[in-house]
Amino acid sequence: MFSIIAAIGKNNALGKDNDLIFHIKEDMDFFRKTTTGHKVVMGSKTWDSLPTKLKNRENIVISRHNIPEADKTVNNLEDYIAKNIDTQEEIFIIGGGSIYAQFLPYAKHLYLTEVDSEPEADVFFPEFDKRFYRRKKIKHGKQGELEYSIVKYTKK
Ligand SMILES: NC(=O)c1ccc[n+]([C@@H]2O[C@H](COP(=O)([O-])OP(=O)(O)OC[C@H]3O[C@@H](n4cnc5c(N)ncnc54)[C@H](OP(=O)(O)O)[C@@H]3O)[C@@H](O)[C@H]2O)c1
Repeated sequence: MFSIIAAIGKNNALGKDNDLIFHIKEDMDFFRKTTTGHKVVMGSKTWDSLPTKLKNRENIVISRHNIPEADKTVNNLEDYIAKNIDTQEEIFIIGGGSIYAQFLPYAKHLYLTEVDSEPEADVFFPEFDKRFYRRKKIKHGKQGELEYSIVKYTKK
């Protein structure tokens, strides 16, 4: 089973200059707690943007090239989706934009930190139709002037 996890602005902003836009402590803690012990799947640009491998998680990188430092490189995305979509195990899709877009049709859960701002961005989360998901708010918070909600969407 695939679960997407992301922090997005009101305009679906995800990233800029191959870096994150939001640095919200509670979001980072939620990300770490939710994904620890699981497989995390990311595109090669997101991998490049990380300072280090994500600890206590199997780091799977999607790329047309081999990335020896990753725990695993996936070259054929369609094949990977077909082989893993029916597993009980929750596999976390952690970005970036191109990877979210390709996994969105197959993801059972979306854990989204919805940030109440519209920052400048060059990568965006794909549009999705909320009528096809149940929405459960996990928590609402504020960091400085920035308000956010951590929400779990589950496909009906
Ligand atoms: N807000 C958040 O929660 C969040 C989370 C993660 C990332 N981000 C941000 O998102 C941005 C990066 O997103 P992005 O869309 O530019 O890049 P990305 O999705 O991280 O990586 C794109 C790369 O993935 C590989 N790829 C994609 N589709 C593939 C396929 N079907 N088969 C094989 N390889 C494939 C290609 O790698 P090769 O070129 O190596 O072949 C491609 O260049 C950054 O700004 C990052 O900070 C935000």
